[in-house]
Amino acid sequence: MASDFVGASAATEVNQFGYRSFTVGECTFDRDEYFAYITWPIGHHVMSVDDFLRAAQRDVAWDFFYGVVNFDDVFGTINNYSSVDLFAGRFNDAYRKAELDHVARVETAEIREVFKNILADWTNAGFDPFASPTETGTAFGSKNGSNLEAISRRRVAAKRMVGASGDEVLRNDENGHPVNRMFADVPQDEPEIYAEPGFESEVASFNLFAYLSRSQVTWNPSVVSVCRDSLYCPTTEEYVLPIIHGNDRVEWFVQLSDEIVWDVEDRETGAKRANVVMKAGDVAAMPADIRHQGYSPKRSMLLVWENASAAIPELVKSGRVPPQPVVF
Ligand code: PHB
Ligand code: FE
Repeated sequence: MASDFVGASAATEVNQFGYRSFTVGECTFDRDEYFAYITWPIGHHVMSVDDFLRAAQRDVAWDFFYGVVNFDDVFGTINNYSSVDLFAGRFNDAYRKAELDHVARVETAEIREVFKNILADWTNAGFDPFASPTETGTAFGSKNGSNLEAISRRRVAAKRMVGASGDEVLRNDENGHPVNRMFADVPQDEPEIYAEPGFESEVASFNLFAYLSRSQVTWNPSVVSVCRDSLYCPTTEEYVLPIIHGNDRVEWFVQLSDEIVWDVEDRETGAKRANVVMKAGDVAAMPADIRHQGYSPKRSMLLVWENASAAIPELVKSGRVPPQPVVF
């Protein structure tokens, strides 16, 4: 019903720092030189604006992702896959107990539009929310131009597999994907394919390490191969995952290179559950009832393996499948 949804308002005039304010889901968003301010009917919150923009960028690029995207331990979004819940304090024990939490349901198209507009207005020239901190300029200061190219990158989403005919193409210097400084030692040779005559367009193969070594962005899983609902979503990581992801299904992680430390917390309350150190070759299953945030001291390669079946969130919620994939 339309009346279940909370609408957005038009952007305001610019403030003294040159930025506009935005409203959606009964939340108002303002920024100054250093901070993003979020205000809802019974509360308010402040975040460093670089963290806010990095989180908002991923929320938009992933179209609200699987389950919960916590921008931090107070603010975030829940993907209902037909609408989005915008919340403050919903997964924070103290806010819940004090009854200061706020949740508003908004149309996906509406929040997508408002978040895109915030990103466009608040991202200054030279700041790239997808880049590692050492590969971008600053997010801070008064309004200084824009960076529409960085915030509107097309997301890689293979239909079958990168390199397959008519699908996502391999990366190279010529198409704007030089090898990253931290992956200079990654071999760039490609497999040789000897297909039976007539099957040339059906057989494909590529060097995933070489492909990832040429990624220009961090913490941005992209679909490189698809088998029905099974999606291989590798990504290159450096510094901190800009969101705390609240799972609505099991996710498998394969650490392809280097090391990532994962903070794993209870999805509902944020209570600490585990600290997982993943070294190259390690495999972990993240349960469906947790939230997690990763720390990668050096640029690393991570394979995130997702099951995109639309049936899973309900199976987990109703208890018909357990939150963990294996019981030892
Ligand atoms: C995750 O939430 O599982 C996730 C998100 C982005 C990444 C890696 C993992 O880059
Ligand atoms: Fe996750």
